[in-house]
Amino acid sequence: MSDKIAVITGSSSGFGLLTAVELAQAGFRVVASMRDLGRRAKLDEAVGAAGVAPRIDARRLDVTEFDAIPGFVESVVRDYGRIDVLVNNAGFAVAGFAEDLKLEEIRTQFETNFFGQVAMTQAAIPVMRRQRSGHIIMVSSIAGLHGTMTLSSYSASKHALEGWTESLRLEVNSLGIKVVLVEPGSFQTDIWTRGAVMGEKATKETSPNFQRSLRMRDRVGTIPKADPAEVARLIAAVAQDPNPRLRYLIGRDAKIQLATKRILPWKWHERMIANFLKIDGE
Ligand SMILES: NC(=O)c1ccc[n+]([C@@H]2O[C@H](COP(=O)([O-])OP(=O)(O)OC[C@H]3O[C@@H](n4cnc5c(N)ncnc54)[C@H](OP(=O)(O)O)[C@@H]3O)[C@@H](O)[C@H]2O)c1
Repeated sequence: MSDKIAVITGSSSGFGLLTAVELAQAGFRVVASMRDLGRRAKLDEAVGAAGVAPRIDARRLDVTEFDAIPGFVESVVRDYGRIDVLVNNAGFAVAGFAEDLKLEEIRTQFETNFFGQVAMTQAAIPVMRRQRSGHIIMVSSIAGLHGTMTLSSYSASKHALEGWTESLRLEVNSLGIKVVLVEPGSFQTDIWTRGAVMGEKATKETSPNFQRSLRMRDRVGTIPKADPAEVARLIAAVAQDPNPRLRYLIGRDAKIQLATKRILPWKWHERMIANFLKIDGE
């Protein structure tokens, strides 16, 4: 067993929870953070079943409480001496047609999905610089490479993360810090239910997009979603790779979307999407 230390954000469900288990099974000590420790039961059950409970330290962290982040990172270093892996995973999705979303709702999206990851990373870099090693793994999305109807602000937050991360990697490569983007397609987690927050105007019948929104909601419900354990295994493998790539696209749907975006003329590509979704019209 190694004594490597991993910190994960958003470990109460989905990829974060499953990654905590994977990394603990791989021998890491895992600081599994979540914004509400009252929601730790699923994690406790999973790590108990996997026999790795002693390797998990669940701690409270809301990634939008920016002032608390440096103290959180300091407390991890005080207790464990180092941080080998940071998995910036916490995220959610604001949903609704772009026309209907308030600026405030779009800002909220960025606070978690972009600034939360930035703030965690900025706090971890000095630690990793001293160590001259460390992996920072950003959980991005195919939405960071491809726009999606009714997810414009989610897609914008992940595109911002992609650009920031690509730049950061160039800056910290020489310090021994490995920065990686994991870009999943559609996987079965709570982000499709609890983690999807409709913009307020988008839910109103007065919205000119109301009927299309309902059709989109039904369509999204039918889209196949893969096993999130695949993503957790990938993150754990990347965390142990001494020389990881910048990008890891995962999921059949994500690979098809990106390939057709790159290969087809955009007009053909958008026609294909419209035919697939079939939500336009009265
Ligand atoms: N599932 C997919 O198809 C998919 C595809 C591409 C990318 N992703 C990305 O994967 C990441 C994880 O999502 P998931 O699919 O595993 O969904 P999930 O099951 O809903 O998990 C999201 C996690 O983020 C946490 N979270 C949300 N806001 C937070 C905040 N301000 N501070 C700390 N934690 C916060 C949630 O905590 P609570 O339990 O307290 O709400 C939850 O633990 C996200 O970044 C998401 O954008 C997901």
